[in-house]
Amino acid sequence: MTNASVESPLFAPSRLGPLRLPNRLVMAPLTRNRAGADGVPQPMMTTYYAQRASAGLIIAEAATPNAVGQTYPHIPGIHTGAQVAGWRQVTDAVRAAGGRMFLQLQHGGRVGHPDTHGLTPVAPSPVPLPETIHTPQGRQPAVLPREMTATDIRSTVADFASAATNAIDAGFEGVEVHSANGHLLHQFLAKNTNHRTDGYGGPVSGRIRFTVEVARAVADAIGPERTGVRISPGNTVNGIEEGDTDAIYPALVRALAGTGLAYLHIVFADPGQPLYRDIRRDWPGALIANPALGRGPLPADGGRHAGERLLAAGADLIALGRAFMANPDLVERLRIDAPLNPVRDRYAMYTGGETGYLDYPTLAATS
Ligand SMILES: Cc1cc2nc3c(=O)[nH]c(=O)nc-3n(C[C@H](O)[C@H](O)[C@H](O)COP(=O)(O)O)c2cc1C
Repeated sequence: MTNASVESPLFAPSRLGPLRLPNRLVMAPLTRNRAGADGVPQPMMTTYYAQRASAGLIIAEAATPNAVGQTYPHIPGIHTGAQVAGWRQVTDAVRAAGGRMFLQLQHGGRVGHPDTHGLTPVAPSPVPLPETIHTPQGRQPAVLPREMTATDIRSTVADFASAATNAIDAGFEGVEVHSANGHLLHQFLAKNTNHRTDGYGGPVSGRIRFTVEVARAVADAIGPERTGVRISPGNTVNGIEEGDTDAIYPALVRALAGTGLAYLHIVFADPGQPLYRDIRRDWPGALIANPALGRGPLPADGGRHAGERLLAAGADLIALGRAFMANPDLVERLRIDAPLNPVRDRYAMYTGGETGYLDYPTLAATS
């Protein structure tokens, strides 16, 4: 390959807490449903992540902090010894290949089904997901979740903290608390899924409390410099209607600002949006921005120009999802302006198996 290197701030080294990152490209968390039925990472996951070790940072796919938090079949967990041992294989391989990983911690809340985990899903309020949901028997209507009691809330916060400790034991550099995309923490933030009348509902100060408590408990367990939080202001995925987006996120950012967290990660970040600019202004730490690339196919540049625009507007790191999924050597391809592999088959994203998972070629393999 003779292409010259392209100049871009995406390739400038950076720091994240105690970590040195060789570039500013972050692999976004991508659920791929390749764990065993018991949530134990499979050997093919080791290969998949090691293939992508040239990312400045990998944020590994959503992993479940307790049994009832599991969203779909074949989602990895991080609450049993076997799961920790499985992840250890992954982090060892990535470290040996020169990479660094965080693990995303995700509790699905109402996005879950008894046929998947044998339990009644829990949520801030008994408001079912208004969609069908993947189960081992195929798609089924969602069930009515059980409203979390004060005891449930305390034990779930503790489960996040112990999952974070497990993640460090498994060799991750840190964890990302998932407060985005319609899962449990986002269900607490949004008006349409949180009808509580106790201190975890009602005004914005109540609805942000659970996310703040989880983030603080995780930071207390493993250190704030190893803890990130992901948010998706205004995202309606999984039936979310926040109601007062412009009030929720400034309040959440202010509440988290003094905690010294490693980063805040924003989904569908757009520097043209006033809310995004306000968050950047008010957040004192590192900001990972996942560009808003639209709902259509991946752009030919994988998000490179959107990422450069976000860096120019003050983001510290750029997270890309589908571009890393389809291009194990994405950093090198962007560096030399080589064409990207397109995402081949939408369905192979979630279907299990090595096809559409391990077989995206590198440039070296195709030259
Ligand atoms: C197959 C797939 C799985 C995803 N899984 C997760 C996940 O586990 N956690 C999460 O926060 N976001 C998840 N997302 C969202 C991505 O992290 C990212 O925000 C989204 O793909 C937009 O970025 P992109 O345009 O660079 O792909 C997923 C997206 C896709 C396509």
